Amino acid sequence: MAIDLLNVRFHYPQQPNHEVLNIPLWTLPVGEQVFIHGPSGGGKSTLLSVLSGLLIPDEGQVSIFGQRLDQMPNRRRNQFRANHIGYVFQQFNLIPYLNALDNIQLASRFAQRKKAPVLLGDIKKLLTDLNISASDWHKPARALSIGQQQRVAIARALINKPELLIADEPTSSLDPFNKEAFMALLMSMVSENGISLVFVSHDLSLSHYFNRVESLNVINRCGDSP
Ligand SMILES: Nc1ncnc2c1ncn2[C@@H]1O[C@H](COP(=O)(O)OP(=O)(O)O)[C@@H](O)[C@H]1O
Ligand SMILES: [Mg+2]
Repeated sequence: MAIDLLNVRFHYPQQPNHEVLNIPLWTLPVGEQVFIHGPSGGGKSTLLSVLSGLLIPDEGQVSIFGQRLDQMPNRRRNQFRANHIGYVFQQFNLIPYLNALDNIQLASRFAQRKKAPVLLGDIKKLLTDLNISASDWHKPARALSIGQQQRVAIARALINKPELLIADEPTSSLDPFNKEAFMALLMSMVSENGISLVFVSHDLSLSHYFNRVESLNVINRCGDSP
């Protein structure tokens, strides 16, 4: 399994009476893509933080490719995340004054799985595959269009060849044209590379890109209490 959750419960320390997650059982087979929808405040981003080991649940087991994230020491968990998990955020979180190449290179520094460092050639190939022309590689991220920034964010998430990709409402600031282009590109990159994908959004119009579509309210017993 890419993901195996068992009896996962989580609340934020500041809100002891508000449990955000209570997930008895949830799995994602390797190479499968799932769309999880749910309203704002329903716990989607919290779930993704638990899956990537940024948050540790109060109870329960979080296994990613058979490894127990909830039992790993911090340093190993951070290394595991850098080596195996790619993340595309709602806001793209590019460093605005760095160009596309440097933004991607920065992400590749955190991972150590490859013996050789990620080569500039790998980054250029990825940017070319993602339809970002060479004339835009050296512009600071803030000078790129929203659609280009989002494609650089995909490149950054994929440069370390993650087996699991996590996407948190990545289309929310894209116009309809860029949204469709982004989704088509993301889904083709993911299926070409056999990447397992967890994609969350409140936007149900995206569900047709996925064979597996689930409501967070069904996965999560806390789903009804915002
Ligand atoms: N860092 C945080 N500290 C305290 N409460 C939080 C934090 N992040 C989210 N929450 C609360 O947890 C619940 C779920 O939020 P979130 O996971 O961001 O939902 P979604 O991504 O579906 O909009 C909300 O009630 C939210 O207010
Ligand atoms: Mg969110």
